[in-house]
Amino acid sequence: MAPQSIISLTDLVKTFPVGNGEFTALNRVNLTIDVGEFTGLVGPSGSGKTTLLNIIGSLDCPTQGEAHVLGKSVSTLTAREAAELRNNHIGFIFQSYNLLPVYTVFENVEFALLLQGIPTAKRRTMVMEALEWVGLTDKEKSKPSQLSGGESQRVAIARAMVKKPAIVLADEPSANLDAANSHHILQTMVKLNEQLKTTFIFATHDEKVMQYLRRIIHLQDGAIVRDETIGEG
Ligand SMILES: Nc1ncnc2c1ncn2[C@@H]1O[C@H](COP(=O)(O)OP(=O)(O)O)[C@@H](O)[C@H]1O
Ligand SMILES: [Mg+2]
Repeated sequence: MAPQSIISLTDLVKTFPVGNGEFTALNRVNLTIDVGEFTGLVGPSGSGKTTLLNIIGSLDCPTQGEAHVLGKSVSTLTAREAAELRNNHIGFIFQSYNLLPVYTVFENVEFALLLQGIPTAKRRTMVMEALEWVGLTDKEKSKPSQLSGGESQRVAIARAMVKKPAIVLADEPSANLDAANSHHILQTMVKLNEQLKTTFIFATHDEKVMQYLRRIIHLQDGAIVRDETIGEG
């Protein structure tokens, strides 16, 4: 069966107003990502990785060109439609964890499911499974202020993956993780990718992450300069 594309970007341009002029953060990006890819955007700081992830995640619109995500054109979505797309189908792992400080670890992860109307008992099973993926079942009652940076990042990862979204977007997810936790979590992600065909897109320059990628898209000054498929073995 031919692979099915889940993300398709055509002549994508993103400019930001600066002073009297504008800054081109993405310069005519063309890219297709298929269902079930395990891929990464790699490039120096300022090369446009986060800008590209934000558009794929329908958090931002392109200035020119087309971004199709799960069959929808990002620029044509209303705010409500974009929120629906994100809530139901996209998991985000940001550099800053954005955990809600007054809620427990359990509640922070559960939050993603409340929007979907899943019954309590089912939610509990799903949250505990996600906490198991990141090795934090014993912290379910802790508050974010009681966690280390690495543990907070693992909660954010559980929160992104608990709803088993079609797409996971991870922006420098390993920045605060030690080597052992990075490997454990990446192995869990690979398992989800294989079992559920979850499409993963990382923005990273961490070797620990890069060694798991099956495709590396190199960005420089807002353009794709190399698109590398990593062979078997
Ligand atoms: N809201 C914004 N306003 C102005 N410039 C921006 C904005 N967001 C990003 N940029 C600029 O766009 C470029 C790409 O940024 P970004 O996508 O964050 O890069 P990366 O994630 O690869 O480090 C940078 O030069 C950054 O300063
Ligand atoms: Mg970035």
